[in-house]
Amino acid sequence: MITADKDRIIIFDTTLRDGEQSPGATMNLSEKISMARQLDLLGVDVIEAGFAASGSGDFESVAAVSREVEHAVVCSLARTVTEDIDRAAEALIHAKKKRIHTFLATSPVHMEHKLNMKPDQVLRMIEEAVSHASRCCDDVEFSCEDASRSDPDFMVEACRTAVACGAKTLNIPDTVGYAQPAEHAARIAYLRERTDPGIIISVHCHNDLGLGVANTLACFQAGARQAEVTVCGIGERAGNAALEEVIMALTVRKDYYRLTHGIRTEQIYPSARKLSRIIGQNIARNKPIVGANAFAHESGIHQAGVLKNPATYEIMTPDTVGLPGNAIVLGKHSGKNAIRDKLENMGYTLNPEQIDLVLAAVKRLADVKKDIYDEDLEALVLEEIYRIPDRYALVHLGVQSSDTGLPPTAVLALDVDGKRVQQASFGVGPIDAVFKAVDLATGRKPKLEQFSVNSITGGTDAQGEVTVRISENDRTAVGRGAHPDIINAGARAYLNALNRLSKKEEEA
Ligand code: KIV
Ligand code: ZN
Repeated sequence: MITADKDRIIIFDTTLRDGEQSPGATMNLSEKISMARQLDLLGVDVIEAGFAASGSGDFESVAAVSREVEHAVVCSLARTVTEDIDRAAEALIHAKKKRIHTFLATSPVHMEHKLNMKPDQVLRMIEEAVSHASRCCDDVEFSCEDASRSDPDFMVEACRTAVACGAKTLNIPDTVGYAQPAEHAARIAYLRERTDPGIIISVHCHNDLGLGVANTLACFQAGARQAEVTVCGIGERAGNAALEEVIMALTVRKDYYRLTHGIRTEQIYPSARKLSRIIGQNIARNKPIVGANAFAHESGIHQAGVLKNPATYEIMTPDTVGLPGNAIVLGKHSGKNAIRDKLENMGYTLNPEQIDLVLAAVKRLADVKKDIYDEDLEALVLEEIYRIPDRYALVHLGVQSSDTGLPPTAVLALDVDGKRVQQASFGVGPIDAVFKAVDLATGRKPKLEQFSVNSITGGTDAQGEVTVRISENDRTAVGRGAHPDIINAGARAYLNALNRLSKKEEEA
């Protein structure tokens, strides 16, 4: 179990729980396992893997992450009810280190309108649930949901009740992103003065007013020693405090905060990239720390300064956060060992058959692309290994497009439920022709909500990465595909989205 250290910040990552609640950020089981391994490599102290009682999918994810994670504490969220706590304990059974995180709202508006409970009933419920959780697990965290709109004295009473029943960490969330930095810090100081110093005080700040990171940092100065964060700040509504921003503030301004953490900062960019690939959402160019512009200098004066001495305009260097220096990693003659080592460094542990699949894909890519970078390799792994089992798989694709006045045409062969199907279609453009041919071959007609293309590395031979979002019958799914031929990448992305949609239908 993690104990309080007066100068160290515990990083509690909730990318797989609160982050996954963000619109469009759903991950399947293998993606969650892959992300959990990356978080472990990044060095987070706690991984909140899900909310085990919320459904069989979440239960499986918490159980699978518990089996996979080597170093971090694995945690499951649970409401303050016995059944939830029992499900959490069951899902965590194989975790090397485990935590149950239980929560109940303490603000007047939540107690009256959501819970329909009086304050003394809330206290009784906390008492019963935390006592039960402590019998199931040594490490119990209690959160006062909507703490920032709670009466401070009642919040303290709820926290003291939880501690008396065995809670070791008290989390003070700004659930609706309402708090201001000095105000939330004062709330933490108020609680700190009234709690045993051995109890860890945690903060969990949402970003509705853009203050998630500022509120988190302010609370450290008032005695909070755990931060609940997500990679790239994904989370409910406007998201949560971003892990990379909190960590780099502590790192770059160590002189100011005088606090330590256990994060391997060079794994920050790989973690953000992996998440972005998995959820099919690009990182905004101007995103602090991990955006494409974070280390780009446009003005001549800035460029000249940086060339003379990077410290003129850079408060941190790209390599500190693991931004790739465009190093060529592999080529046509790379062997299994090189690929396995490279992948292990990138947080992917694959079995020998999976390595063979990736090696074959590297060789195919090396036939058409001269230099293969980390990002190319990662895209191949996601294509070859982490695609969900394909109900619809692309076998062949041919596209014709010219400026002769004839419409673009796509001809394709798909495997649909194991049977070969061929189709052809015209379209307004080549992508439209391909998607129409896929619709005819699969008998589906989803609405295309979003289509975006990204180049994985530089150069005209770079792999294109296409992300699509589709919807059908009130269900949405994101799909991703990568290929040196952008039309082929589009077809893969569209099929990937259809496969995810079909998986959701099966699960429902
Ligand atoms: O925002 C919130 O209050 C939460 C709790 C469940 C910790 O996510
Ligand atoms: Zn939250």
